[in-house]
Amino acid sequence: EFEVIAARSGKVLLVKHDKSIAETLEEAGLRPLLSCEQGICGTCLTRVISGEVDHRDTFQTAQEKCAGNQIAICCSRAKSTQLVLDI
Ligand code: FES
Repeated sequence: EFEVIAARSGKVLLVKHDKSIAETLEEAGLRPLLSCEQGICGTCLTRVISGEVDHRDTFQTAQEKCAGNQIAICCSRAKSTQLVLDI
């Protein structure tokens, strides 16, 4: 489990081990842009304000993943206890 702060609304959400960040945002009434939901298309890429990403997508290059300033919220998770996202 880890915490996601949706910075635009200030919502603080707990992402359970069996839910994606996108699913958790939807349950909280937010409407993230999604398409493939498998880490392939890049539609769901969201800017990371702070926190360390556990990248699970195949869309970003290794270099982009290393930079860590975008996250595919349909499948990627957090290495840190908290992620602050620009959503
Ligand atoms: Fe396609 Fe996330 S919805 S990469």
